[in-house]
Amino acid sequence: MAALLIAPGLLHGELPHLFHVGGISARTAKVLCPGGRPTHEPLLWFGGPRRPPPRQLDLPWEPLLTTAELRRGLAYYGSGARLQALAAKLLAGQPIKVYALGGSVTGGGGSSYPPATAYVSRFFRWINATFPHRDHVFVNRAIPASTAFLFATCLSHHVPADADLVTLEFTVNERKEAPFTSIERRAFEQLLRRLLAYPGRPAIMMLHHYSWFESTGDGLNQGLYYAEPESQLSTLAQFYDVPVLSVRAAVWRLMAAGARHFRVNKVTLKDRTHRYLQNGTWLERTLPVSAQGPLAKLAFYYVDSLHPYDPGHQTLAELLVHPLVRAVREVEAGESLGEDDVRHAAELTGPDLPPPMIPGNVDEEPGACALLGDFKGVVVERQGFEYRPERPNASEFRNQKWGWTSSRPGSWAELEVDTQQGSGHAEGDTLLWLSHLRSYAGMGTARAECRDGCVCNSTTLDGTWEQRVSLFYMTRFPVSRHPRCRIRVTVSDQPGAYSADNGHKVTLVGVMVTHVPLAGAGSLAAVQQLEFDV
Ligand SMILES: *[C@@H]1O[C@H](CO)[C@@H](O)[C@H](O)[C@H]1NC(C)=O
Ligand SMILES: *[C@@H]1O[C@H](CO)[C@@H](O)[C@H](O)[C@H]1NC(C)=O
Ligand SMILES: *[C@@H]1O[C@H](CO)[C@@H](O)[C@H](O)[C@H]1NC(C)=O
Ligand SMILES: *[C@@H]1O[C@H](CO)[C@@H](O)[C@H](O)[C@H]1NC(C)=O
Repeated sequence: MAALLIAPGLLHGELPHLFHVGGISARTAKVLCPGGRPTHEPLLWFGGPRRPPPRQLDLPWEPLLTTAELRRGLAYYGSGARLQALAAKLLAGQPIKVYALGGSVTGGGGSSYPPATAYVSRFFRWINATFPHRDHVFVNRAIPASTAFLFATCLSHHVPADADLVTLEFTVNERKEAPFTSIERRAFEQLLRRLLAYPGRPAIMMLHHYSWFESTGDGLNQGLYYAEPESQLSTLAQFYDVPVLSVRAAVWRLMAAGARHFRVNKVTLKDRTHRYLQNGTWLERTLPVSAQGPLAKLAFYYVDSLHPYDPGHQTLAELLVHPLVRAVREVEAGESLGEDDVRHAAELTGPDLPPPMIPGNVDEEPGACALLGDFKGVVVERQGFEYRPERPNASEFRNQKWGWTSSRPGSWAELEVDTQQGSGHAEGDTLLWLSHLRSYAGMGTARAECRDGCVCNSTTLDGTWEQRVSLFYMTRFPVSRHPRCRIRVTVSDQPGAYSADNGHKVTLVGVMVTHVPLAGAGSLAAVQQLEFDV
């Protein structure tokens, strides 16, 4: 056991407690939750056959995966160079900046008490429990239903130049049947290339969640092991020396065998459906639901056809921890990659970025993106709109959520956006995504129309929302390409779909431009609006 990888309980001068009940043993250890407040992880894994904890990890929770499963789940490790650099930084007692990018699973979807029980928080908690530092920066940048394509456009907003580690979880959102030359795969490669080119040389890890029920094909209506896009994305990862963590490689056999915590014959939520193709036609069935007791539910891996339940989230977290532990060990053993281990041939243009793997994929400036602070200057003329913080009392600028706001019908703001940037090699449609506040009190609607340079059909932005939460939404509409596209947003007196009062408030916080041929863009084309925590 590496000297530094001691259980968090020991770091605080306490021994882990051992409970023995009828031959069943379960260990509890003090846990540091993200806020730093120590709590006890409940004894969730009580019962079932006893097995030794994996030797690799000291987790602030009772481990779920065995050593064999962890090693299988590390589907590709690569040279380890960037992870070792990260490990060296942690071993030197320095703080790191970690960014988790992904869709709803990364957002905690399926876990019982998000964010605490979700995989991202568990992973962050492990880092901070094993290498405690008050200045670590842990940021979850999930956007439900998002793909790599959407992150590639606004990447510098989501991940700053000095990031140390970035995790990517997009596999279940990316279009399954897409060739490497498709817009989706090319965008994924762009995302990897842009991250790898960051000056801080961040370590990147690709995490493949696996959806048993959505993995169909070749006569199987579920559980197809090799359902894409996992293999395609892993091929990209290999090309770029990016470690890959695979749920299917780690636990598919446990799912197929019906092992406790990995069962897939039921899901934990009621009335969840599963669509599948049988004999050329789409069929739909309601998935059988598990018993609802907390212990009974823990036998199952999924809450619905896509999202993992707590065992699934825990699996994802343990998979992410494993390669980092390996890198720490390599550094401690003096086995990290040295100068002599790397070829320095003159033909190699650079160690990190070879030419793109996908023929014809070119490094291109992304479409325009301006959110929050960067968005202020996008509004070039206005009447009745003010630049104000949505949460004035929040501690940091970023959390204050500044935007352009008005509550008076007839007020307008004019945005000037370059809708041409980054379109050099893109055929097809250019979309403008306007980010605005949706909330439950005082909110109204607005009309957006093209005034100068570009053309578009006018679109309605609806700021009303049924739930008692405030979100930033992105409403998209097609525009023509022009370096100075003028868009006017006018506050309307029409009520929104969920108007609860006579409010007319409209708050604009950002804009993003993407270029993609919508026909043939699969799931991408279906995304009309995005919840977006800017
Ligand atoms: C990490 O742990 C330290 C205590 O060692 C705590 O002060 C800090 O707030 C934690 N950071 C995060 C982001 O949880
Ligand atoms: C599939 O369809 C064909 C032709 O419609 C039919 O002959 C065959 O029995 C079907 N197979 C199944 C498994 O339903
Ligand atoms: C912010 O703080 C001030 C003074 O403490 C208070 O009056 C105001 O209501 C707060 N505003 C919000 C939006 O919470
Ligand atoms: C406006 O809408 C019409 C009808 O839906 C469509 O045919 C046309 O292409 C749209 N124009 C633009 C600029 O998007």
